[in-house]
Amino acid sequence: MLLNIFRRTPILKTGFPDIHSHLLAGLDDGSKSLEQSEEMIRLMLDLGYTGFVTTPHIMSDYYRNNRDTIFPALERLQEHLKTVGLTVRVQAAAEYYLDEALMKMIEKPDQLLFLGDRYFLFETNMFSQPLTMNEFIFKLSVESIRPVLAHPERYEYLHQDFAKVEELRDRGVLFQINSLSLLGAYGKAAEKLARTLIEKEWVSFLGSDCHTPLHAKGLADVARDRHFKKALDLPLLNRTLV
Ligand SMILES: [Fe+2]
Repeated sequence: MLLNIFRRTPILKTGFPDIHSHLLAGLDDGSKSLEQSEEMIRLMLDLGYTGFVTTPHIMSDYYRNNRDTIFPALERLQEHLKTVGLTVRVQAAAEYYLDEALMKMIEKPDQLLFLGDRYFLFETNMFSQPLTMNEFIFKLSVESIRPVLAHPERYEYLHQDFAKVEELRDRGVLFQINSLSLLGAYGKAAEKLARTLIEKEWVSFLGSDCHTPLHAKGLADVARDRHFKKALDLPLLNRTLV
C-alpha cells in the first residue's frame, strides 16, 4: 500500500520544506550511505519538497549524536550533493529522545539543536508518558524554547487518553504529524489520532520522518488524502524554517 514507484507527480503544489527526517548517513537508523541519502532527497524533491531540516536521533544509549557527529555528517552530505550537481538546501537539527540524559542536556540550552531558532523536536517512548514530561516542558518554556512533540499520533499513551493530548497542548507543546501516519503506516490508532489532530487544526508541523527510500516513495501515496490536503492548508510552521 505504501509503495507506488511509478508515480512521481508532486504531492506538494507549493514549495514546502520537510523538517523531520533521518538523511545523514550512518548516524542512526536512517540513511546508511551518502548514495542512499541522495536517493531519498531526489525522491522527495520530485514530490515537491523544497528543502530539508534533517533530524538525526539523539538517544543516550543508542544514538550518541551531538554537534560533533551531526555537523560533519551534514557537511559530507552537502559536499556529496554538490558533487552530483544537486542544488538543495539541507540543514540539520535533531530529534531528541526524552530521558534522563536529555533532562541534563536541557540545563545547557545553548548546546541544543533547534528547528529554526527555538523549536525543539523531541520524542518519547511509545508506551507511557514520561514522568518528567511536565518538568521538561516547564524548563524549556522558562528558556522561551517551544517543545515540538514528534509524531504524537504514534504514542500508545495518547491513543488511550485524549485528555493527555489536550493537556500537552495547553502546556504549550506543538505537534508534528508524520505524513505517512495518514496511510496507516504506524497502525490504525496512529492514523485515527493524526486525522483527529488535523481536524482540530492542532498540527503545527508536518514531517516525513523519512528513514529509507521506501518511506520517501510511500509519501507519493498521501497526495490524495483528504486530511493531508487539509493539513497543507493549515498555517504550518514548516514554511518558516528553510
Ligand atoms: Fe524520526
